Amino acid sequence: MDLIKNFKAKAADDPQIIVLPEGGDERVISAAEQIKKENFAVPIVLGTAEEVAAAAEKSGSDLSGIEVINPKYSDLKEKFTDEFFEIRKHKGISKKDAENAVLDPLYFGTMMIYTGAADGMVAGAANATGNVLRPAFQIVKTKEGISVVSSVFIMVVNDKSYGEDGVILFADCAVNPNPDAEQLSEIAVSTAETAEKLLGFEPKVAMLSFSTRGSAKHEFVDKVKKAVELAQKQAPDIDIDGEMQADAALVPSVAERKAPDSSVSGKANVLIFPDLQSGNIGYKLVQRLAGAQAVGPVMQGLAKPINDLSRGCSVEDIVNLAAITSVQAQK
Ligand code: ACO
Repeated sequence: MDLIKNFKAKAADDPQIIVLPEGGDERVISAAEQIKKENFAVPIVLGTAEEVAAAAEKSGSDLSGIEVINPKYSDLKEKFTDEFFEIRKHKGISKKDAENAVLDPLYFGTMMIYTGAADGMVAGAANATGNVLRPAFQIVKTKEGISVVSSVFIMVVNDKSYGEDGVILFADCAVNPNPDAEQLSEIAVSTAETAEKLLGFEPKVAMLSFSTRGSAKHEFVDKVKKAVELAQKQAPDIDIDGEMQADAALVPSVAERKAPDSSVSGKANVLIFPDLQSGNIGYKLVQRLAGAQAVGPVMQGLAKPINDLSRGCSVEDIVNLAAITSVQAQK
């Protein structure tokens, strides 16, 4: 399955405006040019004229037809300052703090998404995860009914007998260090929704642990058990089960022995890890040792889509994440 080709085709059905706030980075500028060329979204680049021109020269890119905004001289600066002040004044910020904040392209870009001046944002080529996510948490906030933003990796393994034709969603591998049972249940439900909406398949959600059906007793296992109960209550129409080990979740012959009565075991296509240590380590092991393609992290649970790149990203990674963000932004 060519996932990215599918995302680009879907994005092109209804092109969305995607903000790339790191205009001083030559990979971002090349990506903007490519997105424009491929015509699946409308890129807007943020940055000073000088830094954008320097990055364009370095990458040999032609930015004609692409809007470039310098927050400092934008007509939107005043409106964004006022609105950001309103959103954050309960935290004790001054008008001056608000004005300084919106001059930061990550905050300016997030305000564009919040106010509808753009539909989605892709950042993180030149900024750490926390700096990309903090304005998103503060301004755009979570979707109705969701209290925790989390992330998902779309893993594509070579053995097509696993998951959904080789596609398995892993969560949360990038955001929440130690979710409690309530947060873990929300992560499970959000990821199931991502499976349906972004990938179009019926989720079978396994909540992972080192225990299957009470085979081990520990407070870590109790957390997962409680999360399963909560998630099943929150989303009774979705197949969610656990606690179970990864082999019971994925391998039919092991499932037969360890959890024969489960509608998820042996055929899980969504894996929910109990914490960030296991999730982050887990996806990287599968990526490196099994040669799986790891697409993401894709943020879920935000009221509007903002996605975070790795600072080691390639131009292709930025273009691909822009396609996914566009699909998330479609109504
Ligand atoms: N969902 C929704 N809101 C959140 C979340 C969340 N998951 N986490 C924090 N917030 C909100 C808080 O409620 C707070 O809101 P407020 O200011 O309105 O009160 C605001 O965001 C800031 O909260 P802090 O607790 O101060 O969060 P901080 O900014 O310190 O950290 C962060 C957030 C950066 C995401 C942190 O959880 C983190 O570092 N996570 C790990 C990221 C990471 O290193 N991942 C691994 C690498 S990624 C990779 O390998 C692909």
